[in-house]
Amino acid sequence: MSYHNDPYDPKQVAYLSPEALEEAVADARTDFAAAVDLDALHKIKHRHLGDKAPVMLARREIGALPPAAKSDAGKRVNAARLAVNAAYDERSEVLAAEAAERVLREETVDVTLPTQRRMRGARHPITLMADGIADLFIAMGYQVNEGPEIEPEWYNFDALNIKPDHPARTMMDTFYVAAAKAGRDSGLVLRTHTSSLQIHSMLNQEPPIYAVAPGRVYRTDEVDATHSPVFHQAEGLVVDKGITMAHLKGTLDHFARAMFGSGVKTRLRPSYFPFTEPSAELDVWFEAHKDGPRWIEWGGCGMVNPRVLSACGIDPHVYSGFAFGMGIDRAVMLGHDVGDMRDMFDGDVRFPLALGTER
Ligand code: PHE
Repeated sequence: MSYHNDPYDPKQVAYLSPEALEEAVADARTDFAAAVDLDALHKIKHRHLGDKAPVMLARREIGALPPAAKSDAGKRVNAARLAVNAAYDERSEVLAAEAAERVLREETVDVTLPTQRRMRGARHPITLMADGIADLFIAMGYQVNEGPEIEPEWYNFDALNIKPDHPARTMMDTFYVAAAKAGRDSGLVLRTHTSSLQIHSMLNQEPPIYAVAPGRVYRTDEVDATHSPVFHQAEGLVVDKGITMAHLKGTLDHFARAMFGSGVKTRLRPSYFPFTEPSAELDVWFEAHKDGPRWIEWGGCGMVNPRVLSACGIDPHVYSGFAFGMGIDRAVMLGHDVGDMRDMFDGDVRFPLALGTER
């Protein structure tokens, strides 16, 4: 039996011939070149560089050569092995680069494509404004009062000195919910203003009263750019000893500046409301209004009419008070340059985002 390092068996040195080595290198190159990706290349690596690869077998055969031939053969085998190695590395580099490029190409993100992203919800600017108003007055020691949106006529009108035959009843276009009937002395209405909360506040607590009441109100108005049958007001009521118009003016000045910026001016313009005496409209000066600088009416106010105090069991000789009712929707529109009131009630989720009021 002969074995691999038997110096005299010519079969054992077949891999060592220069032709065989050249062929081994050429085969390896062809095979590597045919590998389509790194995986395929890895799979055939052993064929040309593993223990049983021709160049490795050749190396083992060196031992069987006569000493004089060993160095020459060694050089040849080494050169062949290095050539196969180099061929492998080269192909490997090319395939790695190709793979990287493919990843870049296939995983490209087109940032201009429309997305499936869902809009995040946001609180409505009117809610935010109402909360902001409540916060402002809480900071001044007021309490926040709420009340029903469906009121007996007595709360919405009579107690506020608007008697059934008073022209102011027809001035406010009222939604009637139920007619007056026996056992109940007045019909039910959707409150036409938050002033009904003045009555609730005065009936529910003793003076001193410092209360603010934001809420939804209803009037039979057609929907257009500046009207809606549902809108929002913030009512303020103060009843205490020694309350004067100066307190009202100072409070409204502070209110307007907090809502519209420290630069705004206010003015009280004489007006009429059955439940206040004297009465005024509060105008706010908008320097940067989109149609040019101007006074904008924001709401009504005045000193609580002694008849209203009496109707609620408060002695007008001991106490005096002021009240105001400001438009919340109007404040949002002015504060954010909303031109059309309908935009606020469409329910388009982009609306608060467009105003930058999301929280
Ligand atoms: N309730 C009045 C309105 O809706 C506003 C107002 C409130 C006026 C309080 C005076 C005092 O127009």
